[in-house]
Amino acid sequence: MLPRLLAGGLAFLLLSNAVRADDPTPPPSVWGELGRGINLGNALEAPKEGAWGVTLQAEYFQLIAQAGFKTVRLPVNWSIHMAMTPPYAIDPLFLARVDWAVAQAERNNLHIIVDNHNDDALCKDPEGQQARFVALWQELGEHYKDAPPSVLFELCNEPAKKLDAAHWNAALAAALAAVRANNPDRWVVVGPVNWNSIGHLSELVLPEGDRRLLVTVHDYDPFHFTHQGAGWIDGSKAWLGTRWTGAAADRQGVADTLEKAAAWGRAQARPIFVGEFGAFSTGPMDDRALWTACVARTCEEKGLAWAYWEFCSGFGAYDPEAKQWRQPLLEALVPPKATP
Ligand code: BGC
Repeated sequence: MLPRLLAGGLAFLLLSNAVRADDPTPPPSVWGELGRGINLGNALEAPKEGAWGVTLQAEYFQLIAQAGFKTVRLPVNWSIHMAMTPPYAIDPLFLARVDWAVAQAERNNLHIIVDNHNDDALCKDPEGQQARFVALWQELGEHYKDAPPSVLFELCNEPAKKLDAAHWNAALAAALAAVRANNPDRWVVVGPVNWNSIGHLSELVLPEGDRRLLVTVHDYDPFHFTHQGAGWIDGSKAWLGTRWTGAAADRQGVADTLEKAAAWGRAQARPIFVGEFGAFSTGPMDDRALWTACVARTCEEKGLAWAYWEFCSGFGAYDPEAKQWRQPLLEALVPPKATP
């Protein structure tokens, strides 16, 4: 494992940060190797794969690995692909499709985060849905118990609405106990309420003794810039034309936001993963690339792993029609190596 760790600059940075013998932070192991990541968004979390314009292809995993990413995050809408009554069985055909994606990641030496995304049922009715949510993780825990450590679980993307801190802390503890029954060492991703917002980290309660937790936050700050003209956000048309030019104040804003997450991580001895950040296609490409590079580099300086939102849809770093990367975004995410 050591040569692999030393091979990645980011991983080395993370490793070199965790040397105090009395430091309760676990050795970076899997999380330290996550490196640069990208979300395969708008595919398996749609009501039906393809309904939001993305059908996963084997070549996507190859392209992502060849471009220098080490991790994919796979948003999956489990809640609409499982029975809503006991024993809450997951649709086997859908599970097989996720297995296919997991196998593609493995074949391309990518870590894969299997993420429970858009669990609206849980967000609307946390008490009524907790048993179903725990059963989901019992089933996935059993199903993937022999998967390699490069497979990570993310319990629930962006807990929000009625899934407030009290309900979420209870639900996550129960789901985590279900996972730990047969996945004692697997890294599990979990984040705060209010859509995984950095400002709500202080409300997140984690089992103290579980040191295989990667704490995730999402960063779309400044929101009026990243979500200008985003159809699913009321009023966002009025933000069209918002610029992010990389001026000192712009950069300071990014650094201040991420420092809050990094400081919480240091205080709690928990590793942090910025599991989503991105600027929607309706913003100017030059600004989007500058902002994306600023967030990615700032995360790396602060020892935070990250995954861009997302691969080939509205925020896409890759253009699936032209079958090519949008070069400014790719270079912002994975800077070309300086030629010697
Ligand atoms: C949502 C996406 C959305 C993105 C940015 C994600 O968590 O699932 O639908 O595009 O955040 O707003």
